[in-house]
Amino acid sequence: MKNTIITLQKRKQNRQKITMLTAYDYTTAKLMDESGVDCLLVGDSLGMVMLGYDSTISVTMEDMIHHSKAVAKGAKSALVVTDLPFMSYHTSVYDAVYNAGRLIKEGQAQVVKLEGGQAFCEHIKMITQASIPVIAHIGLMPQSVLALGGFKVQGKDYQNAKNIVLDALAVEHAGAVAILLECVPAALAKLISELVNIPTIGIGAGVGCDGQVLVYQDMLSMYDGVSSKFAKSFAPIGEQMKQGFRQYCQEVTEQQFPAPIHEFAIDDEIMNKLKKEFSANNRSIGK
Ligand code: KIV
Repeated sequence: MKNTIITLQKRKQNRQKITMLTAYDYTTAKLMDESGVDCLLVGDSLGMVMLGYDSTISVTMEDMIHHSKAVAKGAKSALVVTDLPFMSYHTSVYDAVYNAGRLIKEGQAQVVKLEGGQAFCEHIKMITQASIPVIAHIGLMPQSVLALGGFKVQGKDYQNAKNIVLDALAVEHAGAVAILLECVPAALAKLISELVNIPTIGIGAGVGCDGQVLVYQDMLSMYDGVSSKFAKSFAPIGEQMKQGFRQYCQEVTEQQFPAPIHEFAIDDEIMNKLKKEFSANNRSIGK
């Protein structure tokens, strides 16, 4: 059964936690789907972990559609959520609705996510009116890295914390189906999760959220860019990959790979005939 936004709502009602991981390609999406992950987020973090940029700023709509399509193919049950990238919705409500539509139609997403609270309520409202579910990402908003001066924990002082609560209440009122809370104090995230009726999904926001999300390269120790206190390593896959790559190089160099079991055979008779026709001294063509 395919997960939908109803699945998320039911989880909140039944106090069952929601699991979300980022995914950017078909193979990984299928592995996550088969492992029972509820939602796959095609995050614009792909700019950093897949394309090697320093931030998410340069990610385009074309990047998002390309990766979203691949993830959707691998997600039999998991809900596919795709990010609206920087400047695809900031310019106008029209652009927000238009680009959200592209992520659904061309990227095969089921839900779109945008970064913004009170200032983006009109965008959320109009995307929702176009029958496209929206997740609002508040707290640390990585697309605002230039304005924030870096990736920093948000909501530590009273005014900032209050503003995040107001963001949460505003996006719920505007029609958001869930809230993604990034890098905020755990107690603040818990308060917001209790205040709103829609599910909260946290990253660096503590156990009080209704669900959790991680960037998969972080939880598998595959990425050594910006490291975060909240990103637990669940399996040392990065090191295992390097070990595999090193062994491949060694076996090719030492002619241990390919072994006979990896080779295709040909009849000796055919080979003898070819060898007679094409000896090292007879390399002419068309004879
Ligand atoms: O782009 C992304 O991967 C995200 C996560 C940090 C939640 O938004």
